[in-house]
Amino acid sequence: MNTLDAIKARHSSRGFTDKQISDDDLKAILFAGGQAAVGGADFKSMKLYAVQDPELLKAIDEASAKKRPGSHPLYGAPTLVVLASKESILPSIEFTNAGCVIQNMMVAAADLGIDSIYLWMSMYGINEEPELMKRLGFPEGFTCVGTMALGYETKAFPKLKAEEQRIEVEYIK
Ligand SMILES: Cc1cc2nc3c(=O)[nH]c(=O)nc-3n(C[C@H](O)[C@H](O)[C@H](O)COP(=O)(O)O)c2cc1C
Repeated sequence: MNTLDAIKARHSSRGFTDKQISDDDLKAILFAGGQAAVGGADFKSMKLYAVQDPELLKAIDEASAKKRPGSHPLYGAPTLVVLASKESILPSIEFTNAGCVIQNMMVAAADLGIDSIYLWMSMYGINEEPELMKRLGFPEGFTCVGTMALGYETKAFPKLKAEEQRIEVEYIK
């Protein structure tokens, strides 16, 4: 797939089957995350965690559902990539870094035929439970700055994506 096709193929999946992604694909996706632009090249300010332990996934799902009891913010995904960061070179730059890292990983996943979704809700879930941060193994001073679910979608959910230019553009020449 060429890059533009992978960018177009990426869409948010909100229902996953139990089928796990392969270790090779996971490795390639995490590698793509590490190739992202990061402010000040401060790569050491971030850590990626690839979570496939069903018990930990369930605990994160439950913690993330507190604002909407009965919901499943992880949508049943068999893999959750958690991005942790400490404060970096400028205030709040870690959230922009997270956007770059996670977008790279989602496009790489699309290229490999793997479905994904950027999840903000599970970031709150993790950060509100110190026990979860401990289970994940965050170093001192690190918090979650973004997460991404991976897997194969059930196709039961409508796609929001269309071919049109979705953000208004002004050309200034
Ligand atoms: C920073 C960020 C956080 C998001 N968090 C969630 C989330 O917690 N739950 C969810 O269902 N979708 C979440 N999304 C997905 C967006 O709703 C989705 O990208 C948007 O509706 C556009 O659809 P598309 O990704 O299919 O193009 C998030 C997207 C971004 C970029």
